[in-house]
Amino acid sequence: MRNKLVVVTGGAGFIGSHIAWELVKDNDIVVIDNLQTGKEENVPAGVKLVKADIRDYGAIVDLVMQADYVFHEAAQVSVVESIKDPLLTEDVNVVGTLNILKALLEGHGKLVFASSAAIYGDNSHLPLVETEKPRPLSPYGVTKATAEEYLRVFHELYGLPVVALRYFNVFGPRQSANQYAGVISIFINRALKNEPLIIFGDGRQTRDFIYVKDVVKANILVAESRRANGRVFNVATGKQTSILELAQKVVEITGANSPITFDKPRPGDIKHSLADIREIRKLGFEPEWSLEDGLKKTVEWYAVKREG
Ligand SMILES: NC(=O)c1ccc[n+]([C@@H]2O[C@H](COP(=O)([O-])OP(=O)(O)OC[C@H]3O[C@@H](n4cnc5c(N)ncnc54)[C@H](O)[C@@H]3O)[C@@H](O)[C@H]2O)c1
Repeated sequence: MRNKLVVVTGGAGFIGSHIAWELVKDNDIVVIDNLQTGKEENVPAGVKLVKADIRDYGAIVDLVMQADYVFHEAAQVSVVESIKDPLLTEDVNVVGTLNILKALLEGHGKLVFASSAAIYGDNSHLPLVETEKPRPLSPYGVTKATAEEYLRVFHELYGLPVVALRYFNVFGPRQSANQYAGVISIFINRALKNEPLIIFGDGRQTRDFIYVKDVVKANILVAESRRANGRVFNVATGKQTSILELAQKVVEITGANSPITFDKPRPGDIKHSLADIREIRKLGFEPEWSLEDGLKKTVEWYAVKREG
């Protein structure tokens, strides 16, 4: 991608900022972010940060209209928060996405939307294929499934070029380590303080972890592929890792003295998650980062940040 005008919503957050960093060398980037969880320091130099809310159509329409590509990462991302406040989550994740779709109708750009494996819920047909019926377990998952449907409808009604990417468990530098964040950032941050790594349940539950740089690659690949238009793809590695294995790897890589402890399983946690990635592979996608290499990079980043 070169010499394009690219809008990244949520570009001050974890995944959005990695997209901005990757594309800033060769393109004009505008980040739209209300800094709800994102941070100004995540936005690379040379990128224009517009502090606006995607729920405010008037504030975003002109920017989105001009874009060649919109990578839509902004969302109310917390599952727990979505259970507490489903209306707010609906507003940000569904109305916000509709605002972007509407604004794109006024322009010429293509949309790549950050959906989620949460739409599958606790489905035991592993590995999960994109054609499985969505059955989310949280309002967050419902909003992602709904937004995907709006994308499909705008594609069918207006021919709008859109792609939805169902991210599985993404990890890497700049991921927030608060209590609702991904397990990897929580484990690494605790290990760096030699605090216990707490596993909820027996640790045999599994996830499909993907390093953020591979997620960025998937975004750019589908953005540039006309064959991807109107479609939905899993973004994952197709590899299963248990939480116990993960905790052991984090202890090994950090050299921490952290004990691994077990607590009651959390209600609503799913047992296994694993993606079938044959569809995105057909477009030429291949994850490049092993879990170990991704963990090493992430540990390095958090370690430097703690010192700095
Ligand atoms: N991290 C994962 O493992 C994962 C997995 C599946 C899907 N996703 C999806 O990927 C996207 C990016 O997630 P992330 O992990 O980088 O989260 P993040 O919280 O780091 O990024 C979200 C960004 O959106 C911004 N934002 C929130 N509400 C906004 C609003 N109303 N208007 C404008 N900006 C707003 C936040 O300030 C933040 O910068 C989200 O859509 C999320 O649902 C993430």
